[in-house]
Parts: sequence; structure tokens; C-alpha cells
Amino acid sequence: MARAPQNTPSRRRAPRRREGRWRQEVERVLITEDQIARRIQVLAREIEHDFRGREMVVVSLLNGTVMFLADLIRHLNLPLRLDFMGVSSYGLGTQSGELIFTKELRLDVRGRDVLLVDDILDTGKTMSRVLPKIQALKPRRLKICVMLDKPSRRTEKIEADYVGFKIPDYFVVGYGLDFAERYRNLPFVGVLHPLAYKQSRQPAGPK
Ligand code: IMP
Ligand code: MG
Repeated sequence: MARAPQNTPSRRRAPRRREGRWRQEVERVLITEDQIARRIQVLAREIEHDFRGREMVVVSLLNGTVMFLADLIRHLNLPLRLDFMGVSSYGLGTQSGELIFTKELRLDVRGRDVLLVDDILDTGKTMSRVLPKIQALKPRRLKICVMLDKPSRRTEKIEADYVGFKIPDYFVVGYGLDFAERYRNLPFVGVLHPLAYKQSRQPAGPK
């Protein structure tokens, strides 16, 4: 007969304590699951309207777009092909560091209508590196869609064509966005408690 797991108080409490602390590191919810879902439907209608009539190529930047992308494209009632570019700031912290490309495009976008999707447009440095790379491949049209936009932090002359939400200068996590690769699985966008990155062993703090 299989032995039932020992439900001693210490065995039950330990994982819960860890989970609790992890959630407490998020100071507050900035954008709820519901708000995200409703906004994505509106964005998808706009994109459909602008891209109808031709097959589009969606180019998504890894890794932060994972949730936004999945929700957005399932609401796009259009023929499309999907590809990814891997872009990463050097290191695990969140200071804008040296940008490295970890994955190149595989689809040929020459003459195609391309929608470039990213999680958040902050200083614009990432986009200002990625855009010329795609433009050099001679797409017919290139539009940018981001889930979040922090216009107050912009240092580059870049704007997105489709924006989910404009937000103030908070360091946010969840719904794909990370701090040191954590919190991506939260279903909402939340403001990270400053203590969470001060306690972190990562050398860099948020931008
Ligand atoms: P940019 O190059 O400064 O525009 O920053 C873009 C990238 O920085 C995003 O794709 C994110 O990976 C990251 N980033 C910027 N702001 C935040 C934030 O508030 N939370 C999590 N990641 C962020
Ligand atoms: Mg990113």
C-alpha cells in the first residue's frame, strides 16, 4: 500500500512560505488580467484592419513577449507566419547593458508586411538596434507593437505603432516581464517592490 505523504506542519509550511514571499515582492498590481485581455482584443482589431489582404509575418522578441504574443496572435483573424529574434541585455540584471542577439530570424521577410512585437518600449535602445537589422532585410512594411510603453524613459527617437498600455516610470514584472528572469509567469503586470531588487544578489538594479 502506498504511504500517504507525511503532513507534518513543517513540511506543509515551507513551500507556502516561499510562495508567499515571492508574491509579496510584487508591491501592487498595475494592470489586471482582465484589463490586459480586453485591451488585446482592441489591439487585435486594429492590427487586423491595418494588415488585411496580405499574409503578415509576426516577428517577436524573446523572451519577454511570450504571454503577450500568445494572447495577441490567437485574436488575430489573419493569415500569418511567426518568427522570433533573440535579444538579450548582457547579464541577468535589468540595467540596460550590452545588447546581444541570441537568435536570428529564419523566415525571409523581404517584401513582406512585418509586425515586430516586443514586451516594453523603455529607453528605445533595444528597438533602435533591432529595427535597422530588420529594415536591412527589405520588408514591404514594418510596424511595431508593444504591450507596454514607458515614454518618460525614452532616449531614442522611436515610437510604437500599437501600444497596449502607456505606464509611468515603474519597474514592472509579470505577464512575460522579468526581473533577473523571475516573475514572468505572473498573469498580471505588477510593480516590483524595491526591496526585491535590493535583496537580489544581482549586481544591477532596475533601470
Ligand atoms: P529599452 O531597450 O530600454 O527600450 O528596454 C527594452 C527592454 O528592457 C525590454 O524588452 C525589457 O526586456 C526590458 N525592460 C524595460 N523596462 C522594464 C521593466 O519595467 N520591467 C522588466 N523589463 C523591462
Ligand atoms: Mg525584452
